[in-house]
Amino acid sequence: MTFLITAGPTREFIDPVRFISNRSTGKMGFALAEAAAEKHGVILIAGPVALPTPPGAKRVDVTTALEMLEQVLHYLPVSDVLVMCAAVADWRPKQTSPVKLKKRDTAPLLELEPNPDILASVKPLKGKRTFIGFAAETGDPEVEARRKLAVKGLDMIVANDVSQPDAGFEVDTNRVRLITPDSDQSLPLMSKLETARRIIDWAEKR
Ligand code: CTP
Repeated sequence: MTFLITAGPTREFIDPVRFISNRSTGKMGFALAEAAAEKHGVILIAGPVALPTPPGAKRVDVTTALEMLEQVLHYLPVSDVLVMCAAVADWRPKQTSPVKLKKRDTAPLLELEPNPDILASVKPLKGKRTFIGFAAETGDPEVEARRKLAVKGLDMIVANDVSQPDAGFEVDTNRVRLITPDSDQSLPLMSKLETARRIIDWAEKR
């Protein structure tokens, strides 16, 4: 089997030195790539992160959401499972200045425009592939996770409450809920690698 895994944040540039991004460090996505590469082919599409490539994974680095979409579209045809773990920036500046904005000028008013939703863009290409998404929420993730599972046409969504200090962004542990259209399993606090193995096992058995 071949797993296509996205990880990390994306960056959306205001000018050559400034960007909009988010807190994702890529740890969960890289743990998924490590776990999958123990038994399968892995293509890891990584936003800007400071992590080593897991042994056996083919890594493709991207910066923006549009670049990530392009690479997902490129590698989807050779993949059996798509795991969208990346924290894709939902908006990008409508204009990117080609030169550094100077602070002596008036503070810029940022006008944003939406980035494409990668999962929504590839939904028509799903075929028999397994699609897994993540729902990072503040507070009880259940309602939003179930909504995203249905709207994005996923086989599983991994829901987590990122407002907890030991789960979600920047830490090595996670406490997630694996929600499918007909099951709901809460995993205890465990390492991201152990969490990743449970997700990969589920995809294998499917
Ligand atoms: N996702 C995506 N493309 C985007 C944004 C998100 O494919 N432009 C994917 C994420 O990788 C994740 C899932 O959609 O697997 C849910 O992402 P999340 O940020 O929780 O939800 P959004 O759809 O962005 O909605 P909101 O930010 O309003 O909660």
